[in-house]
Amino acid sequence: MLKDAALGRSHRAKIGKSKLAEVIERSKKVLGIPATYVLGIVPASDTGAIEMALWSLLGERGVDVLAWESFSSGWASDCKNQLKLKDLRIFKADYGKLPDLHQVDWTRDVVFTWNGTTSGARVPNGDWIAADRAALSICDATSAVFAMDIPWEKLDVVTWSWQKVLGGEGAHGMIALSPRAVKRLESFTPDRPLPKIFQMTKGGKLIAGIFQGETINTPSLLCVEDALDGLKWAESIGGLPALIARSNTNLEAIEDWVAQSSWAAFLAEEKPSRSSTSICLKIKDPAFTSLSAEEQSVHAKSIVSNLEKERAAYDIGAYRDAPVGLRIWGGATVETSDIQALLPWLDWAYGQAKAAFGEATRL
Ligand SMILES: Cc1ncc(COP(=O)(O)O)c(C=O)c1O
Repeated sequence: MLKDAALGRSHRAKIGKSKLAEVIERSKKVLGIPATYVLGIVPASDTGAIEMALWSLLGERGVDVLAWESFSSGWASDCKNQLKLKDLRIFKADYGKLPDLHQVDWTRDVVFTWNGTTSGARVPNGDWIAADRAALSICDATSAVFAMDIPWEKLDVVTWSWQKVLGGEGAHGMIALSPRAVKRLESFTPDRPLPKIFQMTKGGKLIAGIFQGETINTPSLLCVEDALDGLKWAESIGGLPALIARSNTNLEAIEDWVAQSSWAAFLAEEKPSRSSTSICLKIKDPAFTSLSAEEQSVHAKSIVSNLEKERAAYDIGAYRDAPVGLRIWGGATVETSDIQALLPWLDWAYGQAKAAFGEATRL
C-alpha cells in the first residue's frame, strides 16, 4: 500500500498536494457531499475541526447547544467557558438519552454531535432540522460519517477524523462547509483572537487552498496514505450503502444477543437513537446493580481485564466519564463474524465477575 506513498516528501510538493486533494475528492464522492459544499483537511483531528468551526463562526447570533454525553458536553462547556457566548442555551440529557430536539430554535445557531460516542445515543435523523433555517447547524459527526446516513443539506458544518469509521491513523481532521457557512465566515468577524490553525479566511475571503489540499500546517503523509487506503477500501466494497449496512449488521448481531441476555442491556434504550458504531451496554442484573458504585466499577474493570487477558477484546470498557458498562465498536471496518465471536466471551467474563462478587457477598 505504501509503494506510491509520498513519504519523505513535502506536502506542498506536487505529489504531496495531490495526495491531500485526493483525500478530499474521494471523501466527497464516497459520502455524497453536495457539489456546493467545500471540504478541507485541518489540524488536530476532529477536535481541531469542530473547535475551528465554533471559534470562527459563533457569536453572530444566539446559540443552542445539545449535550448528552462527554464530547457534546465538552463543546457546550467551551461555548460557555471559553468563548463566553452571551446568548447561549444548553439542552442536556443523561447518558443513553437525547434532549428534546424540538427545543432548538432555528433562528439561532445549533451545535450538536450526530453520534454520542461515549453514550451510544445518536440523533435518529435530520427531520428536526429546519430546511429553511437562517442560522447554522454545526455538527460533530466523527463517529457517524461513513456508517450512518447524513442529510448533508440539513448541515452547514460537519466534522470528522480519519481514525473513526474508516479506521485510519489519527492525524488531521476534516471539515465540510455549506455555502451558508462560507457566507458566515466571509461576512462575520468574531470578536476574539483566532490562532493561525483556526483561520479559514484571509482579508474577508475563504482561503480556498485549504479546501484543495493546501493544509494550514504540515500533515503526516503516512497518515494521508492510510486515509486514502481506507477510502479505496470503502469504494471497493460498494461505497456508502455497503459501509452503512456493515455497521447496521453489527448492531443487529448485538441486539439479537441482548434480547436473550439475562444481564446486559443497551445504555441507549430507544432503538431509533441507538448507535450502530459506539454500541454501549450497561449491566441490568439486579445482583450487580445492587452493589455499591465502587464495587460495580471494580467488577466492570475485571470484566474488561479478563477479556483483554484472553485476547477476546481490547479497550471494551465504557468511556471514563460514562456509566459503568461495556462499549463495542461496530463501525464499518468491523466484521460481524468477529462481533458474533465476541458475544459468548462477554457472557463468560460476566460469569467470572458474578462468581467473584457472589463469593464476596457470601463472605
Ligand atoms: C463525538 C466525538 N467528538 C470528538 C472526538 C475527539 O476526536 P479526535 O480525537 O479526533 O479529536 C471524539 C473521539 O472519540 C468523539 O467521539
